[in-house]
Amino acid sequence: MKLVIRRSPLPFLSVMLNQNQTPLIDALKACATRPHAPFYTPGHKRGQGIAQPLADLLGKAVFGADLTELADLDNLFAPQGVIQQAQELAAEAFGAAQTWFLINGSTCGIEAAILATCGTGDKIILPRNVHSSAIAGLILSGAIPIFVNPEYDAVLDIAHSITPTAVKSALQQHPDVKAVMIVYPTYYGVCGDVEAIAQITHQYNIPLLVDEAHGSHFAFYPDLPTPGLAAGADLTVQSIHKTLGAMTQASILHLQGNRIDGDRISKALQLVQSTSPSYLLLASLDAARQQMALYGKQLLSRTLQLADAARTRISQIKGLSVLDIPQVKSPGFVALDKTRLTVTVSGLGLTGFTAEEILDEKLGVTAEFSSLQHLTFILSHGNTPADIEKLVQAFTTLSQMNPPPQEKKRLILWDDIFMLGNSVQISPREAFFTPTETLPLEETRDRICGEIVCPYPPGIPVLMPGEVVTTQALEYLRQIQTMGGFISGCADTSLQTLKVVKF
Ligand SMILES: Cc1ncc(COP(=O)(O)O)c(C=O)c1O
Repeated sequence: MKLVIRRSPLPFLSVMLNQNQTPLIDALKACATRPHAPFYTPGHKRGQGIAQPLADLLGKAVFGADLTELADLDNLFAPQGVIQQAQELAAEAFGAAQTWFLINGSTCGIEAAILATCGTGDKIILPRNVHSSAIAGLILSGAIPIFVNPEYDAVLDIAHSITPTAVKSALQQHPDVKAVMIVYPTYYGVCGDVEAIAQITHQYNIPLLVDEAHGSHFAFYPDLPTPGLAAGADLTVQSIHKTLGAMTQASILHLQGNRIDGDRISKALQLVQSTSPSYLLLASLDAARQQMALYGKQLLSRTLQLADAARTRISQIKGLSVLDIPQVKSPGFVALDKTRLTVTVSGLGLTGFTAEEILDEKLGVTAEFSSLQHLTFILSHGNTPADIEKLVQAFTTLSQMNPPPQEKKRLILWDDIFMLGNSVQISPREAFFTPTETLPLEETRDRICGEIVCPYPPGIPVLMPGEVVTTQALEYLRQIQTMGGFISGCADTSLQTLKVVKF
């Protein structure tokens, strides 16, 4: 196995590392077991002062490792010791030149990626089906979004990736753009042509930023889609907690090449992360990296076998279909992460929201998220054959329930809102900082939205600060709500009212 030679600024710390090692976990273990009187944060003092209900839930051992930035534990914002070593091992395992550990999720990585590449008034190309963290990045940086509509499957009502042609055309219209961002894969596991988009983007000598929140596992199995970095991305952000074994919020940002200044990434991350990073989260990144580097291939091979079996069996159940690679590949859908299962339930006369509720409450199966017509399931190396059996059984039962056919009403689709064109009137930052007024929803038509309005999951805003509130957007939101979806991001999640910019 290749050795990482630590590029330490402190020569006495220089060590040879290999992927068997877990430097952060080892240091944490040593600190947790070293006898001493703790006069530092956190206040529970290695579990001695922990409240009983939490101790009952978690046990006491975990609190011994819930430590602060002690001398032997390095510093997340100026890493020179065990954090640096763990990050270097991760860079090697994921194929990056440099890697940063994140403790505020991919959310903070995406914000930092935009902050590091765009200042106020700079333009950035990004898909309209971007995650709300990118909108937060636009607000923080003052960058101007040049939204590109993704390829859209009108039969399934699923937005895929933006296409190389669309990126090329946006770059021709806006040659002064500072960066391009794509979502790869989408929440549904759909991958666009990242390689072609990287080539086009690099012709303008600007970086390609990839929101790879759902693709951390790609680097560890050859039959999965090509990882963003291998396809030429300059920067990728991955939620290690979503598809690998890290704890919730533990994510990673990777960099390669010289189009982005690593120091700007470090500075930007200091704006969006806590100065008291959780070592439990950091250690979980160290562990997840080691697990994948050592056993990733066999674990993911087994996961794919389980996913394939589930895909085949569920597709054979009456009234159901499973999202698969189209027979004729399209530029917005060139590959699929087969560990992601999107099951269309509209053939049973059910919405995804209702099916999710029945599966969860009555059949003991919980999905990742639902939409109007589908349910999406994340499969990982943590799933067992028994899970898959339960999933297939649950869908068999759901199909046999023979729900009454629903009144065939034309649904308002994602397409109806976004194919109208770019409706950004003022920058998301300007809209965020301009005073707003709260109006009954019906009176907000044609006004400029003052907040993010977002069905969650998947966390793709239907309205964002700075966009015109259209009739179609309002009707779409109402439809999601009446069919059982949850709206977040805005002050009034019941959507009786909405905040609009006050001029
Ligand atoms: C496409 C996409 N990007 C970014 C994020 C943010 O990731 P995190 O939850 O790690 O902050 C999400 C979260 O669901 C997402 O779906």
